[in-house]
Amino acid sequence: MALSEIYGEASAQTGNYARYGVEFVRGSGVHLYDAEGNEYLDFLCGLGVTSLGHCHPAIVEAIERQSRELIHTSNLFWTPPAEQLARALTDRSFASNAFFCNSGAEANEAAIKLARAYAHGNGSNAREIVVLERAFHGRTMGALSATPQEDKQAPFTPLVHGFKTVPNDDAAAMTAAVTPHTCAVLIEPVQGEGGVFAIPDDVLIAAREACDAVGALLIFDEVQCGLGRSGSLFAYEQTPVVPDVMTLAKALGGGLPIGAMLAAEHCAGALQPGYHGSTFGGNPVACAAACVAFDLLADAELQSEANELGKYLAERLSAHGSVQGRGLMLGVELDQEIDAKQVVSDLLNEHRVIANATGPSTLRFLPPLIATTEDADVALTALAQAIPS
Ligand SMILES: Cc1ncc(COP(=O)(O)O)c(C=O)c1O
Repeated sequence: MALSEIYGEASAQTGNYARYGVEFVRGSGVHLYDAEGNEYLDFLCGLGVTSLGHCHPAIVEAIERQSRELIHTSNLFWTPPAEQLARALTDRSFASNAFFCNSGAEANEAAIKLARAYAHGNGSNAREIVVLERAFHGRTMGALSATPQEDKQAPFTPLVHGFKTVPNDDAAAMTAAVTPHTCAVLIEPVQGEGGVFAIPDDVLIAAREACDAVGALLIFDEVQCGLGRSGSLFAYEQTPVVPDVMTLAKALGGGLPIGAMLAAEHCAGALQPGYHGSTFGGNPVACAAACVAFDLLADAELQSEANELGKYLAERLSAHGSVQGRGLMLGVELDQEIDAKQVVSDLLNEHRVIANATGPSTLRFLPPLIATTEDADVALTALAQAIPS
């Protein structure tokens, strides 16, 4: 039966996604397979999630093992996988504590609430949060309010109050925007959705200094750029600053839904009992998968191989336009205003290579960190054919 007869307008799911006419039934390593057994090279990774490839055996094993032992309790009780994951994340980062939830948007909601609670706990009325142009922090109301993109926000007004937007490349504007009313500055160190853009160091330094001057928190959203995606375990490690709070999700669970908000010692305590929560947050199966995924993602050899592959890809992608990004988080602003959506569609339908478009002429590649130069060559050959000459 044709996919259009099963899905399309006949689908029982809400219509909030413009899906492609492909249905995947299986994944293994860098590949996805449809019901006919056709193989697709996944250079998008479920939007930055399957960084270790599909159905990594060690992650599958962890999920199987944990799901035979304990699937859910609630946050009224301690469970070993959540504590183990919190320790692994805090041992490897600036943070002293982790809060677990189920997605990137939820992690950002927690960070927004932490920042306001921190100010509140300090007896301050500061409630404003400074965000950057072209930011993307998620679709829930708080995270959406921190996402200054007209098309995403307009249908959902009124938004949460208190977000102030500054250009993403202007250090002086950042300094001027932070005032005694500011409780936080929220930044993706490498922006991913409106193109791929690494925030300049001087903007990050200005944000850090301005936060310190008024006692506000610097929050890094590393939901997409973290966990090895942009060339180091955490993106902040390549910048001249250390944040107070960091949010993670996407690759953290090796494909299972999990988000985390990590906070430094001086502010982690702002979320007191009863201030915030999530029924499924810290789920034992998700945390068991994440423990294994994080261990693999933190491997220095994987990091350096992924970095090399990033350079290899970036160099060759530059034949098609200007390349932006870091590590394996790459955007290509195509020459001559070529329609990126059409290129993505040709890549998928004619060449069975998965990428996406983040702007009218901007392509984005988020290959798995385990991809090889041979995989990259397959994608590059397909791209050369998909781009109209
Ligand atoms: C930087 C960033 N923050 C937050 C989110 C939202 O994450 P989620 O879709 O898991 O809620 C995304 C998703 O693309 C993202 O790229």
